[in-house]
Amino acid sequence: MQTQELLDRPHSIDVPEDLQGQVYSPKGISYGSRKFYIESYGCAMNFSDSEIVASILDKEGFSPTSDIFEADLALINTCSIREKAEDTIRKRLEYYNMVKRTNRKMMVGVLGCMAERLKKTLLEQEKLVDMVVGPDAYRDLPNLISNVYDGDKQINVLLSREETYADISPVRLDSNGVSAYVSIMRGCNNMCSFCVVPFTRGRERSRNANSIIDEVKGLFEQGYREVLLLGQNVDSYNWKDPENESHVVNFAQLLEMAALVSPDMRVRFSTSHPKDITDEVIYTIAKYHNVCNYIHLPVQSGSSRILDMMNRTYTKEWYMQKIDRIYEIIPDCAVSSDIITGFCSETEEDHIETLELIDYSQFSLSYMFSYSERPGTPAAKKYPDDVPVEIKNRRLSEVIEVQRTISGKLNEKDIGKEFEVLIDGVSKKSELQMKGRTPQNKVVIFDSQPGLKAGDYILVKITGSTTATLFGTVLKQLNLNTTA
Ligand code: 5AD
Ligand code: SF4
Repeated sequence: MQTQELLDRPHSIDVPEDLQGQVYSPKGISYGSRKFYIESYGCAMNFSDSEIVASILDKEGFSPTSDIFEADLALINTCSIREKAEDTIRKRLEYYNMVKRTNRKMMVGVLGCMAERLKKTLLEQEKLVDMVVGPDAYRDLPNLISNVYDGDKQINVLLSREETYADISPVRLDSNGVSAYVSIMRGCNNMCSFCVVPFTRGRERSRNANSIIDEVKGLFEQGYREVLLLGQNVDSYNWKDPENESHVVNFAQLLEMAALVSPDMRVRFSTSHPKDITDEVIYTIAKYHNVCNYIHLPVQSGSSRILDMMNRTYTKEWYMQKIDRIYEIIPDCAVSSDIITGFCSETEEDHIETLELIDYSQFSLSYMFSYSERPGTPAAKKYPDDVPVEIKNRRLSEVIEVQRTISGKLNEKDIGKEFEVLIDGVSKKSELQMKGRTPQNKVVIFDSQPGLKAGDYILVKITGSTTATLFGTVLKQLNLNTTA
């Protein structure tokens, strides 16, 4: 993969690059007379939020369209994590502007992190924007829309300490019918010095565990076979039952509750913070066959000095022990990471430590970025952004190369092994092939067979690999209820 492509990669709660800017064609939505169009950018949390927005709009009688030229309401759910992400959104808004010249009735709303970060300056800078709505204000959309119809530009960027949208049943957008996002918490209290998220998404709060489990059960009944429990820092999930203060659910317990919904429902989660993931969580993953052996555990840097400046609250050695512990308890676990190159004052020695830590940790994959200073963050206030862009990019290429070699070798080691694969659809390259994922979250391509469909579990023997993909042959179809 080219450096530039990686610079453009999304926030890493694993939304593939080809889905960025996805125009939704929601399923199971009732049709009203007004039409909305929505594009989503950034992390899975944003994609999940767009499903909540779709549900709120559905109740207001809006039906979806993938044709912006017929939309009454065009929304863009935005990301602020790096400057590049905001540049992309600005270009899309220019396009919306062009559309508005022919589709004059169209109302334009900016949602998500960029709305929260830029607030009313967005209304001032981007004249065509009618509505700016932060991540905790989506319930106010009906009111805001009606005020825009009355001729006033609208803004609601209030952050909340309670909002989790727990009672809103998301409309699954552009779903493969197999995997679904389930948001379990919102916000982040961590204050990593480079990160804008605590400012755009506010304080951390955990969603009612019962509503999460009800959602997982509902998804299973609708035929879904995998849930991705989402939060900026899932390991600090901690829900206190308001009706019984002594009833507290932590993340390990929530994972267990989700695992028990059905042995045929795979449970994944993202993102874990190395400081918060406990042995209890690791043992819970090991205990339940349907909790996937895969942990996204961003390290960010291999230098303890840089980690301290990043306010990650762990050292390189501490991270290495965590990695050891994971592989000790779950030997076939895959661990992936996020890496930032060229953070303030990073030296060549710091960079080499990062390369060494990637090798030590044997990440199955990493999402790799060069540092992008974000206004208002602690790093922007305290440290000069002093690593020249060419050096940031050269280091990024080196990190990518080391990671690519490790991913390639790990995938080669899988050849000859057998994996349980959940089929998620037809392969992009050939209609005659299907694709699915192993518990370790690796994509496997195999020849289609009569009777196999998305949502089925199969046993696959791996016969080949690249740095990004495994290839295999189907050994048999599985009925997990009998194997779990
Ligand atoms: N510059 C570059 N990468 C960043 N990330 C977060 N903030 C920045 C930034 N300012 C990366 C981190 C985080 C991931 C979601 O995005 O690696 O884990
Ligand atoms: Fe940002 Fe750190 Fe919170 Fe992740 S844990 S969202 S990197 S502040």
